[in-house]
Amino acid sequence: MAAYEFIDHSYDVVVVGAGGAGLRATLGMAEQGLRTACVTKVFPTRSHTVAAQGGIAASLGNMGPDHWQWHMYDTVKGSDWLGDVDAMEYLAREAPAAVYELEHYGVPFSRREDGRIYQRPFGGHTTEFGEGPPVQRTCAAADRTGHAILHTLYGQSLKQKAEFFVEYFAIDLIMAEDGACQGVVAWKLDDGTIHRFSAKMVVLATGGYGRSYFSATSAHTCTGDGNGMVARAGLPLQDMEFVQFHPTGIYGAGCLITEGARGEGGYLTNSEGERFMERYAPTYKDLASRDVVSRCMTIEIREGRGVGKHKDHIHLHLNHLPPEVLKERLPGISESARIFAGVDVTKEPIPVIPTVHYNMGGIPTNYWGEVLNPTPEDPDRVIPGLMAVGEAGCASVHGANRLGSNSLIDLVVFGRAAAIRAGQVVERGKANRPLNKASVEKAMDRFDRLRHADGGTPTAELRLKMQRAMQEDAAVFRTAETLQSGCRRISELWKGMDDLKVTDRSLIWNSDLMETLELTNLMANSITTVYSAEARTESRGAHAREDYPERDDVNWRKHSLAWVDEAGKVTLGYRPVHTEPLTPPEQGGIDPAKIAPKARVY
Ligand code: FUM
Repeated sequence: MAAYEFIDHSYDVVVVGAGGAGLRATLGMAEQGLRTACVTKVFPTRSHTVAAQGGIAASLGNMGPDHWQWHMYDTVKGSDWLGDVDAMEYLAREAPAAVYELEHYGVPFSRREDGRIYQRPFGGHTTEFGEGPPVQRTCAAADRTGHAILHTLYGQSLKQKAEFFVEYFAIDLIMAEDGACQGVVAWKLDDGTIHRFSAKMVVLATGGYGRSYFSATSAHTCTGDGNGMVARAGLPLQDMEFVQFHPTGIYGAGCLITEGARGEGGYLTNSEGERFMERYAPTYKDLASRDVVSRCMTIEIREGRGVGKHKDHIHLHLNHLPPEVLKERLPGISESARIFAGVDVTKEPIPVIPTVHYNMGGIPTNYWGEVLNPTPEDPDRVIPGLMAVGEAGCASVHGANRLGSNSLIDLVVFGRAAAIRAGQVVERGKANRPLNKASVEKAMDRFDRLRHADGGTPTAELRLKMQRAMQEDAAVFRTAETLQSGCRRISELWKGMDDLKVTDRSLIWNSDLMETLELTNLMANSITTVYSAEARTESRGAHAREDYPERDDVNWRKHSLAWVDEAGKVTLGYRPVHTEPLTPPEQGGIDPAKIAPKARVY
């Protein structure tokens, strides 16, 4: 075994990641008196949730009539009937209480004149089970909602005496011989020490893997580290083919321009100055669901109606909005447009293009956040000691496509649910089991191998090739040809990891090694994405196959599972979608007929 000394820690719960879900879970665990550590590779308030702009969905009904069942219906339809209905009910029902809880914790929401929380329209959120006008359901703190939530949750977690291990990179899970999770091995980036965290429950809140792609709204830290660790533990990832493109990333820079911009009245035009969304989605127009808008923009560009010198992007207009609305409701994106596109939003349109934004797939869980290791006999089998929440997890509330502002609510509802469940299953005061030495050894051998990697390919070079392959072959529109090319290219690049060159051998602030560890995580995400996508011969939500343009509920209303081994061999399997709501109609639950699959039109 590679010779490393360890610093040992023992907790009831270790949360890995300090974004919205990680902090909400940390806070909830600590509130219940569980000894809780949060291990994070960046300072908590630098986590990617800080970049969430437009808001958090909850049927408060502050701006007009709303109901949790309408929110649930919109989420089911948005998911293109791939989401788990029990989890979607839990999300929509719990959302208002979760938002009021945030308000009481101190989140500085924007307000109406009468003091109630301000809510704006967002794509795919409607009234009357999709029969009524758009609803104002998205609670906002201007266009810096994630920032406000993250700072509040961090402060509250400190108040509850949760312990933070900041700038620690989680190397791998520690798995017991019986398959339970026992902890995590982590590398402290500023002094090079290696830490073993033993826990009765590990919660992965490590976010998405947007950086598998060349252009993404995600931070450079979004490298799917939890998914990578889970894959290396021999566990499956679920629904990885569903990658969301946000309609309005700034052309060239990739930074997000919130959907809230269209919620406040912004609209898209093509090179003919036409508001083309009226043609594709006559009812909800620019506020159709994200996957729909991204596809329409791509069609406009392909058919020669893109704007700019290369006719390769679209215009987003805000210049007709009153300057005071821009100043009060959209100050952040006004600044981003100026800095990254050189545009004064009061005068000119913003150049935008669909940009990778969110991963619907991830680590399979139930709606308590418990990680699943499905078998054909027991598709809902729980792994003791392991949870996943937030974008890393796949509960699955977003199915094949997530609605805007359903991410922030997912983070807090399921972060909280994980804490409630841990409060029930974690035995307080009991000593943790001795750690499985073989599991730690395996993690450190891999770490050491990468640290001393002495091949001919710099990490950045291999990463760029992977990002380009994903961008080209697993894009908004897909075919067998592009996806087979994606499988071939990513499999070849996987082998390229044997030839990596790490130039810095030290353990202190070794960004070369950290990026190499991140690349191995990204690769596990990329390869499971392309193989799952190639196999799914239908179109559903964000997975749009030109060769299979229809949704096929008979054969494909099921979750994909993908395992990848050390050699990069991907094995696929499937598990059923949960189609039963939690609450029967006679006890106030939704009428199942309302959420039966049908054509998805906006
Ligand atoms: O457009 C946005 O503000 C993004 C929100 C989201 O992804 O939920």
